[in-house]
Amino acid sequence: MIDTPRQLKIPAIDPDFFILNEDRIVLERFKKMSEKHPVNLLVTGNQGCGKSSLVRQFAGIYKRPMATFQVGLLSESGELFGQQRLKGGETFYKEFLFPEAIQTPGCVIHLEEINRSESPHALNELFSILSEDRCIWID
Ligand SMILES: Nc1ncnc2c1ncn2[C@@H]1O[C@H](COP(=O)(O)OP(=O)(O)O)[C@@H](O)[C@H]1O
Ligand SMILES: [Mg+2]
Repeated sequence: MIDTPRQLKIPAIDPDFFILNEDRIVLERFKKMSEKHPVNLLVTGNQGCGKSSLVRQFAGIYKRPMATFQVGLLSESGELFGQQRLKGGETFYKEFLFPEAIQTPGCVIHLEEINRSESPHALNELFSILSEDRCIWID
């Protein structure tokens, strides 16, 4: 089971995080784009080069709530959205943070290690969300 982070928070700005001026200009452009429509960004680079921290700093600089999901650990489809649970002999659907994050305007959703999923079919629903219509039906 992949449990998700409990809440959406604006990350703190790290005063020691170094960003080139030219990269700040690019971040500003992404921010403007994201005010018009949701934007998917693929951040690539060697391990430890600062991808995850850059996402966090972006959210901190622009005061955006952020949530990180370890996509590489997903093993079943639907796992990001919620799960059937048992309580007092009854089953109920427990919704996770991901549905809330995708419905929160301006939320920065960090899909960590999306290229390293052990089980590619677990990503199918995610791809519906990332596509142009940004819709999904979950039974
Ligand atoms: N531009 C930077 N300024 C300051 N520290 C950085 C910078 N880039 C990376 N780091 C530090 O390097 C470490 C690894 O960064 P991380 O974002 O986890 O890398 P990645 O996600 O690319 O594997 C972190 O402790 C981060 O704070
Ligand atoms: Mg990382």
